[in-house]
Amino acid sequence: MKVLVIGGGGREHAIVWKLSQSRSVDRIYCCPGNAGIAELAECIDVNTNDFESLLDFVKYEWIDLTIVGPEGPLSRGIVDAFEKEGRRILGPNRTASQLESSKVFAKDLMRLHGIPTAEYKVFTSYLHAEEYIRLKGAPIVIKADGLAAGKGVFVASTVDEAINALRLIMKDRVFGDAGNRVVVEECLKGEEASFMAFVDGKIIVPMVSSQDHKRIFDGDTGPNTGGMGAYSPAPLITKELETVVMEKIMRPALKALNSEGIKYKGILYAGLMVDRGKPYVLEFNCRFGDPETQPVLSRLKTDLMDIALAITDKKLSDINIEWRQEASVCVVVSSKGYPDKYEKGVVISGLEKAKAMKDVVVFHAGTAFNNDNIITSGGRVLGVTAIGSDIKDARAKAYEAVEKIYFDGMHYRKDIADRALKKQ
Ligand code: AMP
Ligand code: GLY
Repeated sequence: MKVLVIGGGGREHAIVWKLSQSRSVDRIYCCPGNAGIAELAECIDVNTNDFESLLDFVKYEWIDLTIVGPEGPLSRGIVDAFEKEGRRILGPNRTASQLESSKVFAKDLMRLHGIPTAEYKVFTSYLHAEEYIRLKGAPIVIKADGLAAGKGVFVASTVDEAINALRLIMKDRVFGDAGNRVVVEECLKGEEASFMAFVDGKIIVPMVSSQDHKRIFDGDTGPNTGGMGAYSPAPLITKELETVVMEKIMRPALKALNSEGIKYKGILYAGLMVDRGKPYVLEFNCRFGDPETQPVLSRLKTDLMDIALAITDKKLSDINIEWRQEASVCVVVSSKGYPDKYEKGVVISGLEKAKAMKDVVVFHAGTAFNNDNIITSGGRVLGVTAIGSDIKDARAKAYEAVEKIYFDGMHYRKDIADRALKKQ
């Protein structure tokens, strides 16, 4: 069978890598892909917002299944466009993906259906929001309603900080229409974890747990990023807690959507805050997490294509999804300046040496070719991922591999998975 993967980051490299091991996949295409993905798939150069051209490609090449990596095309209705033409595609449709693309939609759904989340209020008026922030005091969290490339959330430790964030969103309109509405919510305490699951519309099957490190610097300091590293399993998510998350969050979320007449299929990701053993939803995503997917798919034993087809054919209950018992750790290597303005076009060396290591996969995120060289082309450049007997072992191998790689200005955190080690 032929598969098209939409996206070009570390997450998509992990999806392509796993598909390349499938017994039923003959050919993989990726749009736009990157220099690492190009080893396993044919990278195509079509604008991922141009659904008509993507559909033409899918029809011309007789693609059997399309898998969507990022939230952008989902929120713009790529699934609706493909399904209208009878094409098989993995991901929720536009209405269902509002769970990620509108914080107001997600929060209102959670409140209505009793899914645990932070207290909040929605505002369309700057003045009313400011008044509410002053009334509530700090710490407080300000969120732009719409998609903002992971930058629309401000955890403010003072009222001034909160009002500055509000001004950026509502007055300066730095996120455009995504800031037409804001959610002002209670600041939760605790520890975060990522909980991803496969959903076929009726059935939800959890993946193994994971945790990412959002801040740019060691000790979880500095600005938020897309994620600087991740590991699986997350010791925080015990078997008992997994049951609670399924019963109180994941199944109720699917039921809530169904009760609104919304069908959800694809990947459902809940960003959780766990406070004294109780999980609360910080956000829902309607796709695989990045970088969580790199360690999570590294542990998947079952053929990913079988799972993808079971989801699109609504037959998830027919397959048994198996995971490796070992642990996996992914260390993200980023460009100088990330998450602000960063350098690009820098030559990367040492990739072959890192790749040659046993139990290591170097997932590419922002890389491209320049003649015979592989160069940086994004903020997050690589996700160096290793599997090991436990987190400690996997972590040691991942760092050994990272140390074989070099490019000017490269940055990576030295404390990925330390949090998990302290728990063991
Ligand atoms: P979100 O995109 O909503 O997950 O927010 C991004 C990050 O902001 C989360 O991963 C948390 O670190 C933080 N965050 C979001 N909402 C809250 C909250 N209510 N309390 C504390 N931190 C939060
Ligand atoms: N790593 C967080 C995300 O994928 O949204």
